[in-house]
Amino acid sequence: MTRRPVKAKQEVGTTGHSWDGIEELNNPLPRWWLWTFYATIIWALIYTIAYPAWPGLSRATSGLLGYSTRAEVAAEIARVEAAHAPIEARLASADLTAIASDPDLASYAQNAGGAIFRTWCAQCHGSGAAGARGYPNLLDNDWLWGGSIEEIHTTITHGVRNSDDPDARYSQMPRFGADGILEPAQIEAVVQHVLAISGQEHDAALAREGATVFAENCAVCHMEDGTGDRTQGAPNLTDAIWLYGGDIASLTETVTNARFGVMPNWNARLSEAEIRAVAFYVHGLGGGE
Ligand code: HEC
Ligand code: HEC
Repeated sequence: MTRRPVKAKQEVGTTGHSWDGIEELNNPLPRWWLWTFYATIIWALIYTIAYPAWPGLSRATSGLLGYSTRAEVAAEIARVEAAHAPIEARLASADLTAIASDPDLASYAQNAGGAIFRTWCAQCHGSGAAGARGYPNLLDNDWLWGGSIEEIHTTITHGVRNSDDPDARYSQMPRFGADGILEPAQIEAVVQHVLAISGQEHDAALAREGATVFAENCAVCHMEDGTGDRTQGAPNLTDAIWLYGGDIASLTETVTNARFGVMPNWNARLSEAEIRAVAFYVHGLGGGE
């Protein structure tokens, strides 16, 4: 409320600037404001010398104090890794089936495994592990390659049908239509047989014909009764669980062109302890044997 009265033009003079008759009075900035302004400039200069700041051609100046957020993150990661090292070492050498009965190991594996799953596996298998077309559901007890913790551990370690790991699980269904192994009519019949053994609506006469085609061409991998063979990753065709779809169109496509589901090997990207943790997690999801 003690605002000083505006000084008259005669007292302060003008800067000589004038727009449409409006003149700019020569009122200098307050001292305190100017000095604060100069102080911020000096502070900024000192700061940019002490800390990484000025951009160069390939990188910025690193600053006299040698501070770097990257180094800080690296130190933090190293600290966490050092803290986890003993339990990771124990996990990496533990008997797979004994993890569950060791409360410390089990709780560590469960948490670490869940985090690894959400980071590396969820893109394909879904964040809840329920899978998608072509990517198996890991929650049910229907397993292509086996649901014991050892089998799951092997699948994760080496992957399926990838070309990076010579120990990857491998099998290949023939392309019955594309390679002319079966006539279109035989494919139509065998598809009806698959509909029949999976309990779906079907043409009984065609399905009977298809049963012979199945016995001659498919039983080596999917077994006589169609229940599949885990040593070859050949799915059970009698349950209502489909990897690629159980309707006529999907079945015809599968038999005509076959499928080639690829899963990466994780031994190149995850440590043994991490693979065990995620194997334990997947095994515990509900379908583990
Ligand atoms: C690029 C996609 C992809 C990623 C990422 C992926 N998987 Fe898979 N996974 C697949 C496919 C495809 C199959 C089925 C292969 C087949 O047809 O036999 C599979 C199969 C499996 C199986 C075997 C299921 C069975 O029924 O036997 C397990 C277990 C599994 N994955 C676990 C994992 C885990 C754990 C991770 C993360 C570390 C992971 N997968 C990451 C694509 C992926
Ligand atoms: C050499 C072994 C082999 C033979 C022979 C074979 N299959 Fe397969 N079949 C497989 C494998 C392995 C898969 C899984 C492919 C994948 O996951 O990519 C499969 C997948 C399928 C599927 C997909 C199942 C799903 O859940 O979506 C169907 C259907 C099928 N086969 C039907 C047949 C029929 C019908 C024949 C005979 C005409 C046949 N297969 C012959 C190995 C075989």
